[in-house]
Amino acid sequence: MKVQGLPGFRDFYPEETALRNHIFSVWRDVAQRYGFQEYEGPPLEPLELYVKKSGEEIVGQLYAFEDRGGRQVALRPEMTPSLARMVAARSQALKKPIRWFSIPQVLRYERPQRGRLREHYQLNMDIIGESGPLADAELIAATIDIMRACGLSSSDVKAHIADRRIVRALLDGHGLNDDQAPEAFAHIDKLERSRRETLAESLANATGISRDAANDVLSIGEIKGLEAINTALSDTPSGTEVGEGLTACVEALESMGLGDFVQVDLGIVRGLAYYTGIVFELFDCAGSLRAICGGGRYDGLLSALGGVDLPAIGFGMGDVVLGELLRDRNLIPELARQVDVFLVAVSGQDTHHVLELGQRLRKSGLRVEYALKQQSIAKQLKLAAARPAKFAVICGPDERASGEVVVKDLAAGTEEKVALESLESVLSD
Ligand code: HAM
Repeated sequence: MKVQGLPGFRDFYPEETALRNHIFSVWRDVAQRYGFQEYEGPPLEPLELYVKKSGEEIVGQLYAFEDRGGRQVALRPEMTPSLARMVAARSQALKKPIRWFSIPQVLRYERPQRGRLREHYQLNMDIIGESGPLADAELIAATIDIMRACGLSSSDVKAHIADRRIVRALLDGHGLNDDQAPEAFAHIDKLERSRRETLAESLANATGISRDAANDVLSIGEIKGLEAINTALSDTPSGTEVGEGLTACVEALESMGLGDFVQVDLGIVRGLAYYTGIVFELFDCAGSLRAICGGGRYDGLLSALGGVDLPAIGFGMGDVVLGELLRDRNLIPELARQVDVFLVAVSGQDTHHVLELGQRLRKSGLRVEYALKQQSIAKQLKLAAARPAKFAVICGPDERASGEVVVKDLAAGTEEKVALESLESVLSD
């Protein structure tokens, strides 16, 4: 019986694992440079954690079941509810603002396609306990620095930034009430992916407004740039004041020298239900991939989960889209060499010497391999070349007697006799 893996799940052969580890190390490095501490949560959570606050889209994608104890549980589809639950449980004791990051594997029952699988690893960086726009700018800057650390520039990727409060104010201006607004958000969110006429008709049906009014509402999602936003806001009851947070965030990013990466774009509203303020997504400029990352402010989530009322903002960046982008742009680093030194035993009597020497060289930090059974010298050299090892070190009775070994540089094709006591320094060059 040949059992295949499940659709949407990946096998990580060494090459894929190396790419994943490269992405993880960039993520960890940038998160730590921004002063974030790493945390982890459980992969399985009570189902209600997601049903309450994540919103319909993600709840429809849950891997949920009843465990053997009769509990309704779900595999985590995202990290934010776990983070909110963990912080809520200790909110008094934790020093604010909390700056935490994590790299969980998350699972969603989505239709597998380019950039979308049923599992992915997702960097989460969140700041909890600070409501000002510098916190928003800090996280957007971190996403941009991750792009730069991967070798991407402002001509490769852009951070599209919007503010749900602005969209809400503009919807007020169109006379939409609290029941109609969530429909409008959901439809604007689909503008990039669906036909405009279909969306207008669906929005009109869902809210009871006319098709023309629905079209006007959808055009909110096409507003780009701070100036156009302020012009649109000046016609609403709340005026331009509601745009101040976004302006301050963009100005902060400009002060950080990151203005080239920023594109203010009200088409970004985000699919998750808990966002309350600034929202953002990173896209490749060629437009061939889905969002590289997405996040935003979720000021009401902690109190909704029974904790104290703390403002919060964060983002999630998956390894799938980023990996595709790096592959497309040839930005994947070469695989690290597996073996520095291959020790070749000339005869069975040399095994003891090879084992002893192998341990000595490993202790000095070199990557060492040797044949695990007696083999001809030719066979051992063949495996050394296939790895490829940088050096092959021949250990035979003559060499042992003279306190020397033969060191072959496999790339250069040269060889020399080296005294055993200076072996480490020769091999480490
Ligand atoms: P999200 O937009 O659902 O946000 O996911 C964030 C990122 O995860 C996406 O931009 C994408 O890179 C990746 N991603 C999502 N679904 C898939 C999938 N099926 N396959 C591959 N990659 C995927 C959240 O999850 C929020 N919890 C982020 C957040 C953190 N907001 C505040 N803090």
